[in-house]
Amino acid sequence: MQSVAARHERTREPRQIVGNSVALRHVLAHVDIVAPTDATVLLLGETGTGKELLARAIHDASVRSHRAFTRVNCAAIPSGLLESELFGYERGAFTGAIAQRIGRFELGDGGTLFLDEVGEIPLELQPKLLRVLQEHEFERLGGTRTITANVRVIAATNRDLADMVGAGCFRDDLYYRLNVFPIQIPPLRARSEDIDHLVDYFVGRFASSLGRRIDVIPSETRDALRRHPWPGNIRELENVIQRAVILSPDGRLTLPPLRDVPRPGSVDDGRETLEGVQRAYIARVLEETRWLIGGPRGAAARLGVKRTTLQSMMKRFGLPLPRDAARSASHGPRWCPAPPRTHDEHRAG
Ligand SMILES: Nc1ncnc2c1ncn2[C@@H]1O[C@H](COP(=O)(O)OP(=O)(O)OP(=O)(O)O)[C@@H](O)[C@H]1O
Ligand SMILES: [Mg+2]
Repeated sequence: MQSVAARHERTREPRQIVGNSVALRHVLAHVDIVAPTDATVLLLGETGTGKELLARAIHDASVRSHRAFTRVNCAAIPSGLLESELFGYERGAFTGAIAQRIGRFELGDGGTLFLDEVGEIPLELQPKLLRVLQEHEFERLGGTRTITANVRVIAATNRDLADMVGAGCFRDDLYYRLNVFPIQIPPLRARSEDIDHLVDYFVGRFASSLGRRIDVIPSETRDALRRHPWPGNIRELENVIQRAVILSPDGRLTLPPLRDVPRPGSVDDGRETLEGVQRAYIARVLEETRWLIGGPRGAAARLGVKRTTLQSMMKRFGLPLPRDAARSASHGPRWCPAPPRTHDEHRAG
């Protein structure tokens, strides 16, 4: 069977997997090994590292490629609705269930089901997911008939599932079942050799879709792109290049300012400014208090400042408003650590 990298290179599909670093080649070698099997795959990596792209590549290189690839984002569907989304329901199963509904496991029969953000699956639904992974069977909500599902599951998360197991918010049996073939996708800062290739690829793609010609990428622009830590990984790079192409009518690639937004809790490489350290620390305390600002258990009390002082610091550091934070915090079970915020949420601040 042809390798994933070779196939994407040859066919020049709109969504190529670009890069030639040792780290990416290692990931693609694992993709090649596991794709033709029916094994469950767990894709792990920070936001924007390419988990969904790789999930599709695994499906495309599998014997199921001519069948459906279905994505369910477990974080985007309210926890009460996720069970009926995945497993369907019978008429009359609950108030308002006026007709039978077929769920994703049945609809995707014969194909691949991509369970994105699998760490957000509520605890009470986890045994049902474990059963379908193990026994390939389930019942629709309100139903008694056992249904068999022939679905290959690929799951992805940017959370540390082992930590969640330790914290009691993810079942260990489900974790081990999902963890049959984990693939860790390294962040872009750990494979900076890929940056030049990705820049050329995105410049070409956006120049053609925006009807622009870019003839020159100045060396100082390339240097700046190589030096940036890319907390939002390839998605962030892709968006920056799109903006740069729009901002470059004269054929020379001009970069928009690259804002360095530290990942929550990161005080890593000794190049941090005092403000960066303060911002990261405040972000961490906010994560720990689930973005509760006031009150005796809020972040302001923990930091020893007034609520209004904390609010103005958050504004200054570009941290999201409590309303935005509440949206991300509401995904997990109440006692679980909040999921890491996505790059878009960082920017929303
Ligand atoms: N190696 C790559 N080559 C080209 N494009 C890439 C590569 N990796 C990722 N991308 C692009 O970067 C963007 C983000 O990738 P993707 O959505 O797969 O990331 P993700 O890990 O699922 O992110 P999130 O955790 O935020 O959902 C997509 O537009 C994808 O096509
Ligand atoms: Mg994704």
